[in-house]
Amino acid sequence: MTSTKPDVMISEAQIAQRVDELAAEISHDYADKGSLVLVGVLKGSFIFLADLSRRLTIPRTIEFIAVSSYGSGSRHSGAVRLVMDVRGNIEGRHVLIVEDIVDTGHTLKYLVGMMKSHRPASVRSCALLHKADRAEVEVDLDYIGFSIPDEWVVGYGLDYAERDRTLPYIGIVHPDDRK
Ligand code: IMP
Repeated sequence: MTSTKPDVMISEAQIAQRVDELAAEISHDYADKGSLVLVGVLKGSFIFLADLSRRLTIPRTIEFIAVSSYGSGSRHSGAVRLVMDVRGNIEGRHVLIVEDIVDTGHTLKYLVGMMKSHRPASVRSCALLHKADRAEVEVDLDYIGFSIPDEWVVGYGLDYAERDRTLPYIGIVHPDDRK
């Protein structure tokens, strides 16, 4: 655990308000499409997915997928690796990938391709956070909670080397704290 608490970038109240807005927008967009499958990307999206899914007003089911794209710190390790695929049958279903954060875009690009291989009716994506300045590949991000600067952030599901994942807010990990 870090000894000092990370500085607040986005407060609990700001997150709650934005998750409400995203849930309203998604519920509106899928209102006449039947049931939606939310595919949460482990581990980082678990808190966002829990809050977002409970605020939707449309029929929905939950799936999880796990990938690994970083080592134990903040450095990109290269290729994205599938650790766990969805369990349910998503063929012909409307899929919404729920990500904690889109950084370089490699993970989301890989995930969209993976989901499409299951032949769903549609695939869209939603990320709580987006580091737009860091994009290395072009990805279609349909719903974005907050665009943030190039800082390493933790909390609300996001970690730094497994630390600070359960902070209730989004905090900044300064380079000096990355030990
Ligand atoms: P991308 O492939 O570079 O877009 O990386 C996406 C993944 O990197 C996310 O799902 C996170 O697991 C991780 N990641 C990127 N930036 C951060 C950050 O600031 N804090 C925590 N995790 C991050």
